Amino acid sequence: MSFVDYSDVIQDGDVAVVYLGHDSMTHIKVRHGAQTQTRYGAIRHSADLIGQRYGSKVTCTKGGWVYVLHPTPELWTVTLPHRTQILYTTDIAAITMLLELKPGSVVCESGTGSGSLSHAILRTVAPTGHLHTVEFHQQRAETAAEEFREHRVDHLVTVRNQDVCKEGFGVTGVADAVFLDIPSPWEAVGHAKAAMKRHGGRVCSFSPCIEQVQKTCQALAEHGFQEVTTVEVLLRSHDVRSVSLPLPDFGQDSPAREKEAPPRQAAVGLKTTTLPREIPGHTGYLTFATKPRT
Ligand SMILES: C[S@@+](CC[C@H](N)C(=O)[O-])C[C@H]1O[C@@H](n2cnc3c(N)ncnc32)[C@H](O)[C@@H]1O
Repeated sequence: MSFVDYSDVIQDGDVAVVYLGHDSMTHIKVRHGAQTQTRYGAIRHSADLIGQRYGSKVTCTKGGWVYVLHPTPELWTVTLPHRTQILYTTDIAAITMLLELKPGSVVCESGTGSGSLSHAILRTVAPTGHLHTVEFHQQRAETAAEEFREHRVDHLVTVRNQDVCKEGFGVTGVADAVFLDIPSPWEAVGHAKAAMKRHGGRVCSFSPCIEQVQKTCQALAEHGFQEVTTVEVLLRSHDVRSVSLPLPDFGQDSPAREKEAPPRQAAVGLKTTTLPREIPGHTGYLTFATKPRT
């Protein structure tokens, strides 16, 4: 198992995602002889998991069942241990596209936080790209590095425990893209520019408050970045429901009556969608910019 490479069969040492139904999921570390308790009873790793195929339905000791899934960055985002606020898939999708990330891209990121975005970047830039991620909280940096090892993506990432605003990313002239998710991104814009390739690239900064965005845009312009654009990504779900509409009665002279049509039903059932009145969940603003060739 690796977060950047699919394997068919669950093995000792893997990280697997357990789907418990009703959108409830958790992750487990598969270990010979270990057990994981769920509301459906225990999952016995040696008997129930090791050697089974990912996607299998596993019956727990109380008779209930779960699905065991191969981990992906998307599933990790919804099951990871939160050490900080994290980025979710809606923002991550826009970040990946608008930073123009692809296999082989070199990316700088700060802060690493809980590693939610990092895993998505790693899956996108694999197998030949690299992520340089900077986190000034020592324990968060160490835990992220440990998780990257467990998820077998550590060959694609360098974790640095330092202050990105004071010491930068630890690399110069190598990055195709830079991503900032820190409280004062404007203080790191100069370091972002220094980390990027001479022929240019893309930068993105995530901030929850518009005052942070204003300062970041100003700093980006002062450092010669172009195409500075801020977006907010909101997800709008359409809920499908059934409605029953009465058939209109056009009266005695209606053509339907004249043709002596078979008796009509009084109502017709339709599927329709309703839009949410409000879209909850402002996460933050995403400011993108382009570094021109220097
Ligand atoms: C909101 S979290 C990042 C979450 C991450 N994007 C994710 O998806 O999991 C912000 C992180 O930035 C780190 N941080 C804040 N200022 C920093 C700085 N100047 N240098 C390095 N890391 C910093 C914090 O310790 C925190 O872990």
